[in-house]
Amino acid sequence: MKKRTSLLLTALVALGMLSSTASADVKKGQKAYLKQCKKCHGNGTKGAAMKAQDEWEEAFEDDAEIFVEWHVGTDGEKYANGKKFKKYAPDLKDFLYEYANDSGNVPSCG
Ligand code: HEC
Repeated sequence: MKKRTSLLLTALVALGMLSSTASADVKKGQKAYLKQCKKCHGNGTKGAAMKAQDEWEEAFEDDAEIFVEWHVGTDGEKYANGKKFKKYAPDLKDFLYEYANDSGNVPSCG
């Protein structure tokens, strides 16, 4: 049991390193967030903290089906079905995942 836990931890650390080398995309995603989502959802920290990492992960699967669903029938519907969102979706996902409410990457945890 203990061994498995530490294996899992090792895997998580490795994943963490992978995601930090991909920080270029997080930056791109942040830019895209500020341009595209901020007007409706407020600043990036607040926006990303709307969901947990696994929720963001799920939301962007299958052409962001769940993300689109969140916006059906709202002011954001046109945007969620639009080309601009599609184009930046992978970067947006990286950014949102990085700052999800269970990511530990929030300024107050410093
Ligand atoms: C034109 C306005 C608009 C844009 C642009 C927009 N949204 Fe939304 N979004 C809404 C509205 C309206 C809702 C539904 C009401 C709510 O939950 O705030 C919503 C819902 C959501 C939800 C679900 C909230 C919940 O409580 O479950 C998330 C998460 C979300 N949006 C994230 C984003 C992200 C990330 C972007 C940019 C990639 C984005 N939205 C772009 C208007 C927008």
